[in-house]
Amino acid sequence: MAAGVGSLVVPSPVSTANARIDQRLDDPFWVKVAAQYDVTGEVIQLENGNWGMMARPVLDAYRASIERVNRDTSYYARRGMGRDLLAVRAELATFLGVDADEIAFTRNATEALKALIGGYNRIGAGESALYADLDYGSMQASMHAAMARRGARVIRIALPEPATHANILAAYERAFDADRSLRLVLLTHISHRTGLMLPVAEITAMARQRGIDVIVDAAHSLGQTEFTLPELGADFIGLNLHKWIGAPLGVGAVYIRRSCVDAIDPDIADDRPQSGLIDSRVHTGTVDFAALLTVPDALRFQNGIGSSRRAARLRALRDRWVARLRNEPGIEILTPDDPRMHAGITSFRLSGQTSVEANKALAADLLDRFSIFTVHRTGLASGACVRVTPALFNSMADIDVLTQALTEIVSQARNRR
Ligand SMILES: Cc1ncc(COP(=O)(O)O)c(C=O)c1O
Repeated sequence: MAAGVGSLVVPSPVSTANARIDQRLDDPFWVKVAAQYDVTGEVIQLENGNWGMMARPVLDAYRASIERVNRDTSYYARRGMGRDLLAVRAELATFLGVDADEIAFTRNATEALKALIGGYNRIGAGESALYADLDYGSMQASMHAAMARRGARVIRIALPEPATHANILAAYERAFDADRSLRLVLLTHISHRTGLMLPVAEITAMARQRGIDVIVDAAHSLGQTEFTLPELGADFIGLNLHKWIGAPLGVGAVYIRRSCVDAIDPDIADDRPQSGLIDSRVHTGTVDFAALLTVPDALRFQNGIGSSRRAARLRALRDRWVARLRNEPGIEILTPDDPRMHAGITSFRLSGQTSVEANKALAADLLDRFSIFTVHRTGLASGACVRVTPALFNSMADIDVLTQALTEIVSQARNRR
């Protein structure tokens, strides 16, 4: 079993990537945390939104589980693995603040959200479901496909830019009041495009008053920001553990409030459809059992840091570059500074440069000239952008390299004009 961060000793010398840690800029606690990750030394990795890295103790535990599962196969699977997996689920439920029979493991957030959107059955012909432009592409597609099967309408809204707490709430309130046949809304807690964090609890409360159900896409929020599932107020939530919890790839989870299981159709592959079990709502078949068995190690690592400390660190990494560039006229930072509206992810573009090509080129320039890895994102009403996603292993010195690079890029762009 892995040790928590608190008991770990900083190895000496530190790894290549950690050589960028400037002890004057980072608290020793974070130097110690960063030393638990074997990060590539080829680039400054600021594209940590694709999936998260396992810390070394978690990776070691995963390797041990792979060996055990591979060695013992059905001898373990048929004589104790089921019990062990129930214990893993109970640990995750405690971490999430819900009961164990209200969650089921999935392979990722997509599988969880497909089960929720595709299975949602409190909607029918003549009724409608709503999503926003910032929602994840495959969830938008799932909304269209699922509602077409049920004969329901799909309404798409564009979230205001620049977003504020007030204008986001107003946008949802307006949309809810504009259509009395609305039954379902999809909310993405933290957008993968801009890092915008929605006030989910407040929107969910407005929805509930109007009899509208809410499915929350928490793929990017679990572990990036601090919350328990009951605080969101929603009955249906899809989660990832392989992004910000740092579990092995291939672990997600679905939450359905106990009293709402019947609102989601059983999976077509399930042979216990009437059981009322959440497990019957996602029937995956054989999965990476070693990955699931490693979840307690990932949770232990995260608990060793603490969720408020983790969320504060990710914000501090983000705030450091945003504070320096926010008033730079050559850059548009798309994510608001209101701490209720962001976590670690933030997106930007060079002022007026809204095309996909321009933002692809900007990410390529950051990589080629400054060895900083980011990614361009599309799908916003205002155009494309570049996303910056720090992780717990990034240092303030990494962020300063980014700030420096962007300052140089902006000044070169200005000189070209
Ligand atoms: C907002 C959001 N929802 C859902 C997903 C899907 O996650 P996964 O590919 O792990 O299923 C992602 C992935 O990046 C995401 O950013």
